[in-house]
Amino acid sequence: MTAPPLVLAREAALPVAEFRRVLAESGLGATRPVDDAARLGEMLAGADLVVGARLRADGRLVGVARCITDHAWCCYVAELAVSRDVQGLGVGQALLGEVRQLVGPRVSVMLASVPESVGFYERIGMQRVPDAFTWKRSG
Ligand SMILES: CC(C)(COP(=O)(O)OP(=O)(O)OC[C@H]1O[C@@H](n2cnc3c(N)ncnc32)[C@H](O)[C@@H]1OP(=O)(O)O)[C@@H](O)C(=O)NCCC(=O)NCCS
Repeated sequence: MTAPPLVLAREAALPVAEFRRVLAESGLGATRPVDDAARLGEMLAGADLVVGARLRADGRLVGVARCITDHAWCCYVAELAVSRDVQGLGVGQALLGEVRQLVGPRVSVMLASVPESVGFYERIGMQRVPDAFTWKRSG
């Protein structure tokens, strides 16, 4: 597994169009409001930490981790998405590594996986939380 040379960094002002493109290219767009640019904009504006993976060669965004965190106790990764043409090369793992680095060891990192990605989170050593609860959105 060899990731292409990447720039991993906070994206303080990620354009909606780039976010939308990576969601669509990853496949995660099937479960996110990719046809509602205003809502995607709200999602970006309300996130405390957005980390991007860009190809060093041309600056193309190929991965994103959008997180809600207090930087003190917990960090919820609301989306982790990697463009299909670079999946399986270490980009997703590198993005989560960067998130962990940025929030630091005092902060627990959590997320809810789509069924197809459970194997990824197991592979990179995240622990399952069997007693997590949610109220599903209705709109
Ligand atoms: C899931 C996702 C973020 C993983 O990112 P990625 O860059 O493809 O994964 P990596 O290359 O960093 O994978 C790290 C390891 O996990 C393995 N892996 C990746 N995806 C996997 C999967 N779906 N099932 C099992 N193992 C997987 C890789 O083969 C690699 O193993 P290795 O260390 O033996 O080489 C990415 O595939 C993706 O965007 N998928 C579609 C959207 C999605 O499901 N997002 C998660 C929402 S919860």
